Amino acid sequence: MSNLTPGAVILVTGATGGIGFEVAAQAAEDGAVVGVHGSRLETVENAIERLKARAPNARYIAVPGDFRQPGVIDEVVGKVVAEGGRLDAVIHCAITGAPDTSGVFRKLNPRNFGMAAQYVLGVAQELAFAAMPHLAVQGGTYIAFASDAGKFASARQSVIGACFGGIMTFCRNLAMEVGRDGVRVHCMSPSFVLDTPVFDRMASVGERGLRAQARAGLGLPSPKDIAPITLFLCGPGATKITGQVISVNGGLNA
Ligand SMILES: NC(=O)c1ccc[n+]([C@@H]2O[C@H](COP(=O)([O-])OP(=O)(O)OC[C@H]3O[C@@H](n4cnc5c(N)ncnc54)[C@H](OP(=O)(O)O)[C@@H]3O)[C@@H](O)[C@H]2O)c1
Repeated sequence: MSNLTPGAVILVTGATGGIGFEVAAQAAEDGAVVGVHGSRLETVENAIERLKARAPNARYIAVPGDFRQPGVIDEVVGKVVAEGGRLDAVIHCAITGAPDTSGVFRKLNPRNFGMAAQYVLGVAQELAFAAMPHLAVQGGTYIAFASDAGKFASARQSVIGACFGGIMTFCRNLAMEVGRDGVRVHCMSPSFVLDTPVFDRMASVGERGLRAQARAGLGLPSPKDIAPITLFLCGPGATKITGQVISVNGGLNA
C-alpha cells in the first residue's frame, strides 16, 4: 500500500514505459484517479487496457502528447485538471532525451548538448511550471525521475549525467521555494532497473548490466520496488519531507 489519499488525482508522465506504468498501476490500485501519459495515443490506450487489468475500478484520464512539441505540456496538465477536477501529484517518468547524450565524450557531438538540456531538464522544469498553480491549491507533490548518473560519477555519462544532475538541483531548489504553498518536490534517482526496455537495451549491448547486477548487494530493483516509495512521497505520511533525491538502486551506490 502506498498511503495515498483515496481519490487523489495523479498525472504520471511516461506511464506507458517500464517505471511509469508500475507507478500508475500502484496508484490506481490505491484508489487514485490516474492521468496516463505517453508520447502517442496508441501507446496510452494500450497502457490503459493493461492498467484496467490491474485496477478495473479505477478512473483513468488519457493524456497522450509529445513533450518536444510546443504547448503540449500545458495541454496535458490542463486536461488532467479539467477532467479530474484537481491535481494532487505529478510524477514525471517520461524519457525525452536527445541524441548523443551518453557514450564516450569525444565521440559525442558537443553541439547537441543544448538540445539534451532542453529535452531532459527543460521538459522537467516546464512540467513543474505548468503543474505548480494546480498543486498549490491543496498542497501537492511534484516528483521528477532522473538517474544516478547525475549523482555518482561514471564514464560515458558526462552529458546525460549533467542533465540529470540539473534535474536534481532544480528539484531541491524548487522545493525550498514552493514549500510555503504546501507543495513538496522530490527527485527519484534509479540506476539500473530490471524489467524495463532501457535496461534490456543496455544488457543486450554489453556487460554493464550484468556487472551492475553483481555489484548491487541487495539486487537491482525492478519498477515494483520503485513505485511504492515514489507514491509514499505523494501521500499524507510524507507531508514533512521535501527536496530529497532518492536513489533506489539495490545498494549499487551509496
Ligand atoms: N530503466 C532504467 O534502467 C533507468 C535507469 C536510470 C534512470 N531511469 C529513469 O527513469 C525514468 C523512467 O524510465 P523507464 O525505464 O520507465 O523509461 P521507458 O520504459 O523507456 O519509458 C519512456 C517513456 O517516455 C515516453 N516518451 C518517450 N519520448 C517522449 C516524448 N518525446 N514526449 C513525451 N513522452 C515521451 C514514452 O512514451 P511512449 O511509450 O508513447 O513512447 C514512455 O512512456 C526516466 O527518467 C529514466 O531516465 C531509468
